Amino acid sequence: MSNGTEHVSAKSEVFPPSDDVVAHANVPDYLAIRQAALDDPAAFWDARAKELIDWYEPYNEVLNTSNAPFYKWFTGGKINIVHNALDRHATSWRRNKLALIWESEDGEEVTYSYLKLWRRVNRFANVLKSMGVKKGDTVTIYMGRVPQLPIAMLATAKIGAIHSVVYGGFSEQALADRIADAKSKVVVTCDGAWLRGKTVNLKDITDEAVSRSPVVQKVIVYQRTGQDVKMVPGRDFWWHDLESLPIASPYCETEVMDAEDGLFILYTSGTTGKPKGLLHTCGGYQVHIAATLKYVFDIKEEDRYWCAADPGWITGHSYIVYAPLILGTTSFMYEGAPGYPYPDRWWEQIEKYAISILYTAPTAIRSLMRFGAEWADRHDLSSLRILGSVGEPINPEAWRWYYTHIGHERCPIMDTWWQTETGGFMITPTPVVPLKPGSGTLPFAGIQADVVREDGVPCDANEDGYLVVKYPWPGMARTVWGDPQRYEDTYWADFADQGWYFTGDSARRDEDGYFWIIGRMDDVIKVSGYRLGTAEVESALVSHPDVAEAACIGVPDELKGNVIHAFCILNAGVQGGDDLAAALRQHVRTEVGPIAMPAVVEFVDSLPKTRSGKIMRRLLKAQVLGKPLGDTSTLED
Ligand code: WT7
Repeated sequence: MSNGTEHVSAKSEVFPPSDDVVAHANVPDYLAIRQAALDDPAAFWDARAKELIDWYEPYNEVLNTSNAPFYKWFTGGKINIVHNALDRHATSWRRNKLALIWESEDGEEVTYSYLKLWRRVNRFANVLKSMGVKKGDTVTIYMGRVPQLPIAMLATAKIGAIHSVVYGGFSEQALADRIADAKSKVVVTCDGAWLRGKTVNLKDITDEAVSRSPVVQKVIVYQRTGQDVKMVPGRDFWWHDLESLPIASPYCETEVMDAEDGLFILYTSGTTGKPKGLLHTCGGYQVHIAATLKYVFDIKEEDRYWCAADPGWITGHSYIVYAPLILGTTSFMYEGAPGYPYPDRWWEQIEKYAISILYTAPTAIRSLMRFGAEWADRHDLSSLRILGSVGEPINPEAWRWYYTHIGHERCPIMDTWWQTETGGFMITPTPVVPLKPGSGTLPFAGIQADVVREDGVPCDANEDGYLVVKYPWPGMARTVWGDPQRYEDTYWADFADQGWYFTGDSARRDEDGYFWIIGRMDDVIKVSGYRLGTAEVESALVSHPDVAEAACIGVPDELKGNVIHAFCILNAGVQGGDDLAAALRQHVRTEVGPIAMPAVVEFVDSLPKTRSGKIMRRLLKAQVLGKPLGDTSTLED
């Protein structure tokens, strides 16, 4: 369902912004500003850096291109993101404003004013210092969706260390790989996380991962579920014990950082090998995310904003934790899954907390749509004014349902295209841009995206091509942690002559210049909007003693966008069957995480390969979908 062809059919429908929305927009002349930025993107970002961000010392250059593609932004500027996100609010009238409203799965409500959040962050920053964390060190954070996750992130950033958050849905091997790659001496985790009424034992998973990555010296454990956990003396400490020590005072100096110092690493899947740790830096990143959030979601002082992603993904880093706080916004965060424990939990929360902006993923919309609109109709959703979508193309049915039954044809839908690598929104409307369901509309002001052929020539209208970005932007990842060569090879090699960034996506532009994302061109599979590399799932499968070789493909799915179909060649003498298929699915779940679990495990005698030995996943996919095999000339056999 979420492939390009269907979006084209919806193309003729245009939803112009309502007069009301335009009249009240933060940036009513956005299209003119965007037009002006086409000629001078750096000037646009320079203005935003001055308008939205406080600098300890001003930068002396907006963009430095001397070591392309290792671009630098705002060089010479001194800054800390926590100063902009917290310090300045906690010492202004905003100290009494709510920064965060959190609701647990079982309905407990906890609120944090800016002052309270700032104090908690300061305390934990002091705790991290007492554990030996210094500027430039990495801290791995592996937690459920609790306020202590953003607190741990902000505390790390405050003292100039680099956080590496690993999504709480990942399992042992995935966590171990990320800890080892980031070389974190300190890990912050929870005893457990609540998920659909059950607890996930995060501490056990952490213990297993830590045993596979001997760099870890200290583990700080936040008590969420109260379940029994094993604490290793001298290594493991309870968060609440450390916080009650005199060292954990509510005052902590904010470290002065260079604009280009590291802020965080976030791992994401790619075509080959282990996940890449993308490094984001202190200066440009915050300019990009603050500007995009303000323009796109039209953030106002009185808003109550809900980005329903997990803080453990880039969406959460940029648009749950950092950008809303920089803008002084009140955010809502829910611990549980959509539709849990009852189908209208989200709609009830929107009414209860008077949420005005909801930003979520197509897969969540589709899952709630399945319960029926009557669940939404039971609630007063009139507080909503803007909706958002991210993670994969939104299919027209889901778009219409969201627009009609949640937004009551009053709320524009911001379909934001971007990536872990881009740091912030890249192709997106703002509330004053006419919408077409399924299209992210136009590149944001200052972003020069295009769809081109293999030789770099721009595609004709409605012709599929490579989605590229032709000019640097401030939120861009600066490198792959520990592997700059991989950064160049992955993103800058395909269009090296032109010096363009290749996104890995295919797309087309229509006759109005609107962008339509088709999907990944590489071996990345989007399952429920989560990004998985075939390589990760395949290496988990072959780590099972019965499996000799494995190949995975993504197959379109009504609800999840795609699901994983795995092909396995078994070791000699092993018999395939339903039990083994179930065991292999479980094995992937334990090693990588529930989201990586293949929907189907099929046993085969051979896999189609090129003469150079590469698995031709394209052929496997064509076969499963009953499509023509296409060019098979490079097939070995
Ligand atoms: C890939 C990046 C950026 C936050 C979440 C995903 C796909 C993302 C859209 C959208 C169509 C989208 C692309 C992209 N994608 N947003 N609005 N429409 N496709 O970040 O996990 O790094 O994945 O997600 O394929 O390359 P990510």
